[in-house]
Amino acid sequence: MKTGFLHLHNLTAWLLLAILIVMVVLFFINNSSRKPLSKLQNNLRLFAVIISGLQLIVGFGIYFMNGWFAAFSQMSDSLARFYALEHPLMMTLGILFIHIGSAKIKRASEEKKNKVGLIFFGISLVLILSRVPWDRII
Ligand code: HEM
Ligand code: HEM
Repeated sequence: MKTGFLHLHNLTAWLLLAILIVMVVLFFINNSSRKPLSKLQNNLRLFAVIISGLQLIVGFGIYFMNGWFAAFSQMSDSLARFYALEHPLMMTLGILFIHIGSAKIKRASEEKKNKVGLIFFGISLVLILSRVPWDRII
């Protein structure tokens, strides 16, 4: 079960990173050329919300199964600090930006949608990229 969760978490990590990068590029291009939000962008927006929600649930599943909450007393150990605090905190923040950004895009006027998307998804991508365990994402 634990191994299955880790594999799933690794697979969806790739998927989410790819979606976020494509989205930020599309938001940037369409915002610069003042084009409206495309159907593809709208589908990717919903896909990103769902995949990131799944990543959150599975991530917290592993967190409790592997007892990382118990590592709070070892904050001087960089590995324990990474998985007990830094990774979950930054990733949860990044995922929050995806959810809130998605809602803001829906409510923004047609000409503002790409700009709002670029800001929220851009911040999310930076937060997430800052705490990916690059040595383990294979
Ligand atoms: C602590 C956890 C979470 C928080 C704080 C959160 C927050 C939010 C917020 C603020 C919205 C925008 C609602 C609106 O349109 O006004 C949203 C939308 C949504 N969330 Fe979450 N969410 C969380 C977890 C999840 C999880 C685990 C899933 C499922 C995988 C999920 C799936 C969705 C979906 C499908 C939408 C609607 C997307 C759309 O149509 O734009 N969320 N969430
Ligand atoms: C965008 C979101 C996220 C990405 C891209 C991501 C990425 C990753 C990757 C690549 C791994 C290594 C997996 C492996 O070794 O096969 C990992 C491990 C882990 N992640 Fe995430 N993660 C995300 C969100 C979260 C969240 C929200 C939590 C919540 C607690 C979390 C908790 C963990 C835990 C506990 C581990 C495993 C540590 C262990 O080996 O016990 N992750 N993550």
